[in-house]
Amino acid sequence: MTVPFKVDVKDKVVVITGGSGILGSVMSKTLAELGAKVAILALDENANEKVVSEINRAGGHAAGFIVDVLNREALEKARAEITKTFGTCDILINGAGGNHPKATTTDEKLKVENITNELEQTFFDLDPSSVEWLFKLNFIGTLLPTQVFAQDMAGKTNASIINISSMNAFRPLTKIPAYSGAKAAISNFTQWLSTYFAEVGIRVNAIAPGFFLTAQNEALLKNEDGSYTKRAEKILSQTPQGRFGEPEELLGTLLWLVDQSSSFVNGIVVPIDGGFSAYSGV
Ligand SMILES: NC(=O)c1ccc[n+]([C@@H]2O[C@H](COP(=O)([O-])OP(=O)(O)OC[C@H]3O[C@@H](n4cnc5c(N)ncnc54)[C@H](O)[C@@H]3O)[C@@H](O)[C@H]2O)c1
Repeated sequence: MTVPFKVDVKDKVVVITGGSGILGSVMSKTLAELGAKVAILALDENANEKVVSEINRAGGHAAGFIVDVLNREALEKARAEITKTFGTCDILINGAGGNHPKATTTDEKLKVENITNELEQTFFDLDPSSVEWLFKLNFIGTLLPTQVFAQDMAGKTNASIINISSMNAFRPLTKIPAYSGAKAAISNFTQWLSTYFAEVGIRVNAIAPGFFLTAQNEALLKNEDGSYTKRAEKILSQTPQGRFGEPEELLGTLLWLVDQSSSFVNGIVVPIDGGFSAYSGV
């Protein structure tokens, strides 16, 4: 892992939900390499263990917690353990999130004949409980960790929260109405929190990744033979830089957002998308 540039997070306590996921793990490792003490809260025990032991073997400080971000009691328990091990939270990264296949339509646009086609998942077939699950994971899964950890951050110097929004928050992406709505809520919530916490010294900003090939979106972007789906090709044709992002390309923004030198940067959502959101397609 190469740290793109140095910022002073030495001995800061970072709590990162989803910190052993594809995007979260590069953030965890980089912040640890810069001297932060990193507490990773996620669901996948193996992935957590792998990232935590990699950090600790390299001389950093990390601890893993198997915690559902929707479980307040488990979050409180983790908070107590983190405080005992590392101290109270300085930087909270709300990285846990994701889509659900049952909240995804088969096609971009409805055709009348597909309303009764059992092979098609139209808008009318979307499973409300999956939509609810998705909203909970992305929105409540950001709200609850913030309620639990921000209490300790209030009144500190340069405390900072980073939420993870998405391209679909600016304009909804086809097929994924619920995920788009939930991430739009994250961008909106980022602005709300930035105002609410302004006088207690917690800055709140968000990163909106464009398209990164990860386990979560692989089914939408890759065919079984490994070739790109039509959707992936469409994305690439709408991305001026003509490629998917690499997780490491989120790091520059993450580091400048958490650094003290960004102390007047508050309530913004930064697209990291190879120009996707700037391009009109013509
Ligand atoms: N991959 C992309 O292109 C992309 C684009 C925009 C936004 N995002 C967002 O970035 C974030 C990370 O995505 P990723 O692609 O690295 O996904 P990932 O699946 O690799 O990682 C998700 C992480 O969240 C954790 N998690 C999931 N549900 C949880 C729960 N209930 N409680 C605690 N932890 C939970 C998982 O254990 C994992 O560590 C997500 O919020 C995602 O919505 C991803």
